[in-house]
Formats: sequence, structure tokens, C-alpha cells
Amino acid sequence: MALVDVSRIPKHVAIIMDGNGRWAQARSKPRTAGHERGADAVRATMRAARRLGIPALTLYAFSEQNWDRPEAEINALVDLLCECLVTERNELLDNEIRLSAIGRLHKLPKHAQSRLRALSAETEACEGMTLTLALSYGGREELIDAARALASAARDGEIEPDEIDEAAIDRFLPSMDLGPVDLLIRTGGEQRISNFLLWGSAYAELYFTDELWPDFDAISLYSAVRDYQGRERRFGLVPGVDEDATVRKGPHKLERAI
Ligand code: FPP
Repeated sequence: MALVDVSRIPKHVAIIMDGNGRWAQARSKPRTAGHERGADAVRATMRAARRLGIPALTLYAFSEQNWDRPEAEINALVDLLCECLVTERNELLDNEIRLSAIGRLHKLPKHAQSRLRALSAETEACEGMTLTLALSYGGREELIDAARALASAARDGEIEPDEIDEAAIDRFLPSMDLGPVDLLIRTGGEQRISNFLLWGSAYAELYFTDELWPDFDAISLYSAVRDYQGRERRFGLVPGVDEDATVRKGPHKLERAI
């Protein structure tokens, strides 16, 4: 098996973690058992990403659309999140992993919001990797929120309509704090983006695998990264283009941090 090229590690990896329900169904277990095993896969992937030196990992943990699932499943997912925010505390601190969250977080139960805030604050100074959980997140919703904020800023005279360019929109999108996505992975066999990081994934390399999320592990991540390393990224230009001079234009936090 080919090795990962440590000089060409993607800076921002995002994952659509799909297949928990089917994993459980195949074992005649409740869907929540799939989510529990999914949490183990999150831990394994986070460790592997940190070991590889990936600076930013963003996980689609709960979409805006997931609020339409049965209440019992939503409660189980929120409980699992809260539990992980306790059990993974040392893992994050010991491995220098900063926790961050994006999405309409105000829709989460108050106790989940405060645990998220507390662990984010506690890990604020960690510089090894940023783990971002997309919670109550939707790419279109994020763009709507940004459009509203930009419209308000224009109304208040803080920005001229003509000044609204790519960099301005980047600044209004929390998901762009860490820069654009280089590698977007989706497990579970479906080949779609499902309203994840729509703006930031504009030039992402897409990697789809049939593996169900609870089965995803370090080896799965290495395979995805190796596949990414075999791609030629052209950004609509000609071969050999300098990646940092094209999609990574803005002063994103990631560039400032490293
Ligand atoms: C999609 O599988 C997965 C989710 C909606 C939730 C993702 C949650 C986890 C991985 C668990 C824990 C995560 C954290 C961050 C604590 P699905 O239920 O849609 O699967 P299916 O397509 O097989 O039904």
C-alpha cells in the first residue's frame, strides 16, 4: 500500500459522516447504536487526522434538516454529543486539538450550547489541529445568514455594495474561518454534498466511499488522503498552478495560526 506523502497533506478536510443507521440496521440494532459506534469513529478519525498533521477537520455532525428526524433520535444525538464533550476533553487537550462549532447553534438545547462553549474555551489555545463540529448546520442556511448580515452592514454604511467580493463573503461565513475545504469525504455510498460547506467546497476534491461511517477508521482516512494526493488540482486554470495563490487568498485563521 502506498504511503501518505507528508509534504502534501490537505489543510482542510471535511467529512459527511453517513451510514450510522444502516450500520445498525444490518446488525438488527436501534439506529442509536449506529450513532454510538459513529462516535467511536469520530475519535479514531480525529486521532488519525492529528497524527497526519491535518490542520483543520470539519465534521457534519447534525444538519439543519436532521431536526425533522424522530424526537427520540434527535435527543439521543444531543445526549451523545454532550457525553462526548465530557469524555473527549482530555483527548483534545492532550493532543492539542482546538474545538470549534459552526451552524445555528442557538437551536441546540441550552445545556449542549454551554458544554460546547466551555470546551471550546478550554481548548482555545491548542494549536495542533482545529476540530470543527457542524451542528444544526446547513450550507444554504449559512449563506442566508451571511446575506442578512451583509445587507445589515450595507444598510448601516459599514460596507458599500461594490465592496462585496469573495473576501467579504468569506468574512461573513464562519465555515471559512479555517479556509476552503481541500478534501471532502462522504461515507455511506451516496454521492452528494447534502447542503454541507457549499461555498468552501467550491474547489474541494470529492472522495466518496461505500464504507459506513461507524466502520471508518485511520486506514480509511489514509486511503482518502492518498487518493487526494493523486489528484491534480487546477482550480479552473492550467496544470501546475500554485494552490496557495488561488483558492487560499483570504487571511483565514488557519494561515494566521501556522
Ligand atoms: C448520518 O447517518 C449521521 C448523522 C446524522 C449523525 C452523525 C453523528 C455521529 C457520527 C455521532 C456522534 C458525533 C459526535 C460529533 C459526537 P444516518 O443516520 O443518516 O445513516 P443512514 O443514512 O444509514 O440512515
